[in-house]
Amino acid sequence: MDTEYVGDDLVKTLFTHDEIQAKVEELARRIEKDYEGEELLIVGVLRGAVMIMADLARALNRHVEMDWMAVSSYGSGTKSSGVVRILKDLDTDVTGKHVLVVDEIIDSGLTLTWLTSNLNSRGPASIEIVTLLRKPEAVSMPVDVKYVGWDIPDEFVVGYGLDFNEKYRNLRDISTLAPHIYS
Ligand code: IMP
Ligand code: MG
Repeated sequence: MDTEYVGDDLVKTLFTHDEIQAKVEELARRIEKDYEGEELLIVGVLRGAVMIMADLARALNRHVEMDWMAVSSYGSGTKSSGVVRILKDLDTDVTGKHVLVVDEIIDSGLTLTWLTSNLNSRGPASIEIVTLLRKPEAVSMPVDVKYVGWDIPDEFVVGYGLDFNEKYRNLRDISTLAPHIYS
């Protein structure tokens, strides 16, 4: 969906479709280099990471295995609580594999901290995280995020997989949501 269809719900476009594509290509080049000669499994965190998974996988000029996890982090409104439940687990055995968890945004980092420690207990060869966006609070999170597209201010954003109440995920651009929508 193009921004103009819901323009009144949005305040400002932070990243356009083209800027996002360029950033994903840049991340893909770094990942190709870092995992040269290694087998790589990329794990998308449903549902928000669908767009970046699809674009990142296509940007990677190498073989890559793709799998998905769905987790629910209990929380109210626009904040997550860190209490996580697995709704859909991997179909792949990650033992001995190089795992790269793909997410669209890290806010408190609670969801990914929990997820990476869960995956780590399964004996992967390595585990790293790539996220398109990172909010300020996550900069100090205990797990190291190897690949970050952009650091953004602490504002609620939608588009490119990011939703508010399951809407706006299909926007091409990433924009800040107008307060009158969520307050
Ligand atoms: P965390 O556990 O606080 O890092 O929560 C991360 C999850 O919260 C993301 O995967 C998103 O699903 C959701 N989230 C955090 N910030 C935003 C936002 O600005 N817009 C949409 N979803 C968000
Ligand atoms: Mg997510």
